[in-house]
Amino acid sequence: MTLWGGRFSTKLNDQAWDLNSSLPVDQRLAMQDVDGSLAWADALHRAGILSDEEHASISLGLATVKKEFTSGKFLFVPSDEDIHTAVEHRLTELVGAAAGKLHTGRSRNDQVATDFRLWMLGAIPTLDAALKDLQSALIEQAEFAGETLMPGYTHLQRAQPILLAHWWLSHYHPLQRDRERLTDLTARVSVLPLGSGALAGTPIPVDRVALAESLGFAEPSPNSLDAVSDRDFAAEYLFCATMIGVHLSKLAEQIVLYTSAEFGFFELSDAFSTGSSLMPQKKNPDVFELTRGKAGTLLGLLTGLLATLKGLPSTYDKDLQEDKAPVFAATDTLLAILPVIAGALRTITAKPERMRNAIDSFMMATDLADYLVGKGIPFRETHAIAGKAVGVAGEKNVGLEELSLEAYQALCPAFEADVYQVFDPMKSVEKRNAIGGTSLQSVKKQLAGIRRFQSLDKS
Ligand code: ARG
Repeated sequence: MTLWGGRFSTKLNDQAWDLNSSLPVDQRLAMQDVDGSLAWADALHRAGILSDEEHASISLGLATVKKEFTSGKFLFVPSDEDIHTAVEHRLTELVGAAAGKLHTGRSRNDQVATDFRLWMLGAIPTLDAALKDLQSALIEQAEFAGETLMPGYTHLQRAQPILLAHWWLSHYHPLQRDRERLTDLTARVSVLPLGSGALAGTPIPVDRVALAESLGFAEPSPNSLDAVSDRDFAAEYLFCATMIGVHLSKLAEQIVLYTSAEFGFFELSDAFSTGSSLMPQKKNPDVFELTRGKAGTLLGLLTGLLATLKGLPSTYDKDLQEDKAPVFAATDTLLAILPVIAGALRTITAKPERMRNAIDSFMMATDLADYLVGKGIPFRETHAIAGKAVGVAGEKNVGLEELSLEAYQALCPAFEADVYQVFDPMKSVEKRNAIGGTSLQSVKKQLAGIRRFQSLDKS
């Protein structure tokens, strides 16, 4: 069935029909389409377009359609062009000619934008809950890590010692920003297009403020031309999804690296690792590699939609039908990844001795320079002296802690016997006590702030 055809003398070419039909994709908007129609029927009734009886019969019919959707009994027929057609078709079967009045003053252009936004308003909290659960896994690991030390890296070269807990929490905060971005986006999704008609607005005197409220939108759209063509919310949603993907891929890359024999900082539980069909010894971090890989796919979905939107003339163009598939795909991808990563992180085992053994005394070279700063020497000079010490130790093929006091004093007479204390990595960590630093106290404060926030965080 199509909701048009009066002016056509032949039916649409079969292949053109397949190209044009969106039902396989937009049937996911079934519930939202019925909800939007129920609210529109109410508005038409209030505006005097539907009689009491027509309104009651349409509402009852739509309620039945909804029940058929929830119970899986709704029969989708490929000859319905899209979800809007499918719903109206079924409604007509149920209530007869009165169904034909439902589309008065409405277009599929304002209808689809409304359905899509309603769907997204439901998807955002689902995504948020999955992100929050992953954050909880990171917090649990940070709490469990206690005083465990690990090497921190820049340029993937050993840099300075840090607390493992600090590292875990460094992955909490990006996800927090992602959640804030989604909440922020909600305000822009929560704008009702219904009542914009095809493009110029509806001739029916509907109270769009009340209509918006009844569907849970914050406000009606202020410009009908913009309302039917605006897909910023879809692009923003895909950006949020991509950013989440990028954050997850950064975490995933480190887990892949740190579970390798070369690092050996973590071991994955068997429940979240996979084997090789050829090499019996293999224990592969596939779930993290897939996470890293899918971040690329998410980016592709974002760039694809932006490319579709670029240069479109106002207002509705059929190109816009390409908006839903990437948003659904991005959502499905993230909802597949997030619980698996949370589970994998909850069951991963840290190897504190391996981490500790990877901290060498060269990672305290900055502390060595800071030691001389404590003796009143400017940092620029102490940096050079500590660098020389690194060079001397390197030549001798020994660690900084193995150079004699005489060797240190030859580089700078201010060195004293207490210099060897700087090579204790925990001392190095403890010195970094300013807000946001890796000291025990600072990380404890960070955790307390996060816990306070999480307990207030009701979502
Ligand atoms: N299936 C369409 C979409 O997803 C619905 C709107 C169709 N509007 C139209 N005038 N053909 O965008």
